[in-house]
Amino acid sequence: MDKSARAAFLRREIERHNRLYYVEDAPEISDAEYDRLFRELQQIEEEDPSLRTPDSPTQRVGAPPVDHFETHRHLEPMLSLDNAFGEEELRAFDQRVKKALEQDDDVEYLAELKLDGLSMSLTYVDGLLATAATRGDGTTGENVTPNAKTVRGIPYRLDTEILGTIEVRGEVVMHKSVFEDLNRLRVERGDQPFVNPRNAASGGMRQLDSRMTAERRLNFYCYGTGACDETLADTQSALMQRLKEAGFPVRKEGALCRGIGALEKRIKEIEQMRPSLPFGIDGVVIKVNDIATQKRLGSTARGPRWAIAYKFSAEQAFTVLDAIEWQVGRTGVVTPVAHLQPVFVGGVTVSRATLHNFDDLSKKDVRVGDTVIVQRAGDVIPEVLGAVKDKRKKGARVPALPTRCPVCKTTLVEEEGYVALRCPNRKGCEAQIQAKLEHFVSRGAMDIEGLGEKQVARFLELGLLSDLPSIYRLKGHRDELIGLDRMGEQSVSNLLSAIEESKQRPLDRFVFGLGIRYVGDRTASDLAREFGDLASIQDADYERLLAVEGIGPKVASEVQEWFELEDNRVMLQALLDLGVSPAQTEARSEGVFAGKTFVFTGKLERFERSAAERAVTALGGKAAGSVSKNTDYVVAGPGAGSKLAKAEQLGVAVLDEEEFLGMLPEGTL
Ligand code: IVH
Repeated sequence: MDKSARAAFLRREIERHNRLYYVEDAPEISDAEYDRLFRELQQIEEEDPSLRTPDSPTQRVGAPPVDHFETHRHLEPMLSLDNAFGEEELRAFDQRVKKALEQDDDVEYLAELKLDGLSMSLTYVDGLLATAATRGDGTTGENVTPNAKTVRGIPYRLDTEILGTIEVRGEVVMHKSVFEDLNRLRVERGDQPFVNPRNAASGGMRQLDSRMTAERRLNFYCYGTGACDETLADTQSALMQRLKEAGFPVRKEGALCRGIGALEKRIKEIEQMRPSLPFGIDGVVIKVNDIATQKRLGSTARGPRWAIAYKFSAEQAFTVLDAIEWQVGRTGVVTPVAHLQPVFVGGVTVSRATLHNFDDLSKKDVRVGDTVIVQRAGDVIPEVLGAVKDKRKKGARVPALPTRCPVCKTTLVEEEGYVALRCPNRKGCEAQIQAKLEHFVSRGAMDIEGLGEKQVARFLELGLLSDLPSIYRLKGHRDELIGLDRMGEQSVSNLLSAIEESKQRPLDRFVFGLGIRYVGDRTASDLAREFGDLASIQDADYERLLAVEGIGPKVASEVQEWFELEDNRVMLQALLDLGVSPAQTEARSEGVFAGKTFVFTGKLERFERSAAERAVTALGGKAAGSVSKNTDYVVAGPGAGSKLAKAEQLGVAVLDEEEFLGMLPEGTL
């Protein structure tokens, strides 16, 4: 094949893979293979620049800078949207729509993600990208075409024939992973990190040098059209389908909802998926689906009457840092906790947030009295992202690191190789004992109802609890317990039977409950499944532990050391003597998934990943975190990336959620 034909083939092939990746969400090749194609094309073009066409995918890395942006007048104005905060305002919108239409029947809406980026209008003339412009004041924006050409998901040429002129509208966003990556690099280079992905995206689109835009690795998702010579569809949902066929990335979360009840349900679902989406959203956009009806409803100067933005509460907020407290965890690690002036963020009022470790604290340079940015996304623990330096008061001092344990006053040790301070007083430090007990009785471990944080603290104080075995000696203190205020006879009975019952918990939960460093629930089940009983885990040497799939050197040595310690051996024996007998985990040879290893990847919509993993384990299989030649099945949801590619490379069977569900006995999930 001559060079020119090869270049043309590569251009087509790369564009095809771009489409599979960004639009279809179904890559056929791995990132490495894609890079190979891309580099080959770059090389051909370098050797013979006459083969470099303006629409070559290599040109997406940016063009030489301009000294200003031209203005661009939108053919159809880019309107804004009215907001609805809460269900009441949403209902009012639905009522307004029905009233204007003079109908009682439920209206059909399309509920879409409200992407948190900057809006973009792309003009295509006879199928070719002519201009890309920012929103500006809604009538006139800035022509940022060279920048837009570096954005993933903006096609140069449409895949289906749409003649004449069409304005395609959508949002440019920065993915969370890219944001984190770029910020890490910026901090390393001593640059100020970006405040949030939206700022980073909008700053990126407004670079005069498009090579700088390219470095921001932005993405585009489409949500509608402006002016359009052709009538493409009768409904908003069909329009989105047409645009997808033409090569635009359209998010698949958009769902048709008839009536307010269905809308509210979908909004809740979207709110739940918010933390696991690859980019930030700040709400749900609700649009009347029928386009003729949209026209009947019309627009005000501000925005259409047929659409509304249902806003979620912000995931980030500003507040003041009142104090930094040092807290001791169950393994003795001492971590800084921020005490904040209460602030409403991510749907709850937050007054404490984590600062991770002392390294993090000094990197973020957060000081008492500072105005700080707090983030709470989904159910994750709120964290302090950083301080607003401009608002820092004079004399604010760098917080001092503790030298002694804040609870037992033992001199702290700085662990080599870890960014952690540790209280070495394992046996005597009250804070560690309390945290260990709390972990042991927690839901994911021995699950002892009635023994929460407060009870543990109280019983510790009264000397009724001191270590894990003491939990099983509580029954000898029945009368004493009944005598305590708010404990009554019934609640003591309930507590004691919950304790009795916990003696038969499965081995994996027991191992998890021991609170061995680095042994989370997944590692605990790996150990339980591999060894089958406690004695075998206890006797396994380093090499044997390392041979367990999913266990690396760090975990293996920690586990081995833990079981070797005399104190721990004595404690385990005491638990066994008291009747704790962790039930054997189901052996590998039983269950429909016996001997099969599953990996879940991508966003799973039909079930929680943890529930699916538990189902696999319960049926005798194994749920692993990474794909290898030992993997039997990869269950891939949308957005699956490198793991899916690896599976394809290794020829591992790939299932979608539906197929996986089909393998389970009725009613498992
Ligand atoms: S439709 C006439 N759909 O939200 C309708 N907008 O607050 C105009 N946005 O400027 C917009 N996701 O930048 C629409 N699925 C979505 C959206 C969306 C994000 C942004 C858009 C707009 C702003 C209005």
